[in-house]
Amino acid sequence: RWEGEAEIDYVFKVVVVGDSAVGKTQLLSRFTRDEFALDSKSTIGVEFQTRTLTLHRKRVKAQIWDTAGQERYRAVTSAYYRGALGAMVVYDVTRRATFEHVSRWVEELRAHADGSSTVVALIGNKADMPAVRREVAADEAARLAEEQGLFFSEASALTGDNVERAFLTLLEEVF
Ligand code: GTP
Repeated sequence: RWEGEAEIDYVFKVVVVGDSAVGKTQLLSRFTRDEFALDSKSTIGVEFQTRTLTLHRKRVKAQIWDTAGQERYRAVTSAYYRGALGAMVVYDVTRRATFEHVSRWVEELRAHADGSSTVVALIGNKADMPAVRREVAADEAARLAEEQGLFFSEASALTGDNVERAFLTLLEEVF
């Protein structure tokens, strides 16, 4: 068998949700292509990116779905959530409102994803921003995550800090 032609053992669907401009698309491109774009445009509709990796000696294709946070672009279809084994709920540590909407996103997820088996991670993005801009403390978010039974990590799509680790932890947990 040729290199690169290796068979895929599993496909894991992961969905990323959260308010507009929290950095969902950039977290994805950091994880799948190690890229970041400062002039990122708002997502319209639904897109997905994939990355294949080895977990416990199995080839796993992570298929990560990205949708618009903006209400007017959202076709909240159950199709988006259907079959999702993992999910990331993202907020922006410099915009309190995006954190206050986390519970709503978690509810939507629980309502549409199949059963309660979906593994959910709460991600506080833009951790690179200066402390004076911060509107959500990490320990407050950690508390919310614990109450709701979610994994929690702050991350930065810009610097790449914790992005790989957050996705890998989620995929490991799905496995
Ligand atoms: P929608 O598609 O509208 O739902 O937005 P989104 O959540 O996909 O946000 P997107 O990834 O497009 O990023 C929004 C803006 O935040 C862009 O200007 C990004 O460059 C910026 N951004 C994303 N991640 C980070 C980060 O980790 N740090 C900083 N400083 N800026 C970021």
